[in-house]
Amino acid sequence: AKEGEENLRSPICCIMGHVDTGKTKLLDCIRGTNVQEGEAGGITQQIGATYFPAENIRERTKELNANAKLKVPGLLVIDTPGHESFTNLRSMGSNLCDLAILVVDIMHDLKPQTIESLNLLRRRNVKFIVALNKVDLLYGWKRITNAPIMKTMMQQTSDVVHEFKMRLNRVINQFQEQGLNSKLYSENIEMGETINIVPTSAISGEEIPDLLLLLVQWSQKTMVEKLTYVDKVQCTVLEVKVIEGQGITVDVVLVNGVLHEGDLIVVCGSQGPIVTTIRSLLTPHPMKEMRVKGTYLPQREVKGAQGIKIAAQGLEHAIAGTALRVIGPNEDLEEAKKKAMED
Ligand code: GTP
Ligand code: MG
Ligand code: NA
Repeated sequence: AKEGEENLRSPICCIMGHVDTGKTKLLDCIRGTNVQEGEAGGITQQIGATYFPAENIRERTKELNANAKLKVPGLLVIDTPGHESFTNLRSMGSNLCDLAILVVDIMHDLKPQTIESLNLLRRRNVKFIVALNKVDLLYGWKRITNAPIMKTMMQQTSDVVHEFKMRLNRVINQFQEQGLNSKLYSENIEMGETINIVPTSAISGEEIPDLLLLLVQWSQKTMVEKLTYVDKVQCTVLEVKVIEGQGITVDVVLVNGVLHEGDLIVVCGSQGPIVTTIRSLLTPHPMKEMRVKGTYLPQREVKGAQGIKIAAQGLEHAIAGTALRVIGPNEDLEEAKKKAMED
């Protein structure tokens, strides 16, 4: 990096909340994809990862602030399931992320898995923004595609504004019952301990640009140290998968550092430590969900933060949620194996 310029990695943002609050649909709206409609029963059952390069974020937010300075290379967003049976996956997501979006359905208030999610985030001291989603379902709501909420709000009848405020205040009270102060983000100038609430619609895209910009600016402002790039690899296994033409692969999230083709790695396995060499590194296309079958881009090396598919021999017994480590040329192999099994 040039002098005076921070060398930052992309922040990892987890999207969490009760089932069907619209987490995947919000991501679809940003990506311009249709992942949610392809899910069995409309339910997310795996952790997802999507990389948003800075240029896409700049494009999507240009009407808000033409010269928003983006210091991070992008944003890696982790989608999590909201169904009650996937607590382990929510826990994994909250362990990986630097910040989070907690999605609340404006029509249904705070639900059990939303409260569970906020407790997971609190335990890990992860700050989050609340997306108060589905505002378009308010009776009589007039949609303005992709508009900032203040602009949309001026178009609404007083009845609609009244209902919005009533529901917003109810959610604020429910957060208060959980011991958390929250405020509509446009009224929350300080962005300190008080949690920002951003009203959104995943259907009409209202307030989505604001949400994106808020995430990036907030992470740049408050997490520089955490986001500073380091050489040491920090990487977590998400899932073991069989991919046609690739054999056994593992989906990982590389938080920091660089992985190279040919790196000697060690992973915790159900039958002991797995030591193997990276045969190929595959990344999903930018703005595409890693968990959806598609084409992947082969890479010689990948810098964090990024979601990656790794193909290597012997990975079938790798355990999800554990660390993937690189064994350097001067490192003791037995020591590395021992460390891998401590996860
Ligand atoms: P899980 O991952 O299964 O927990 O659900 P989710 O939170 O990802 O919600 P999902 O994206 O699957 O959306 C659930 C349903 O709500 C779908 O039918 C969406 O079309 C609908 N939906 C999501 N966001 C909005 C919104 O802003 N407005 C309206 N009207 N419907 C929405
Ligand atoms: Mg989902
Ligand atoms: Na769903």
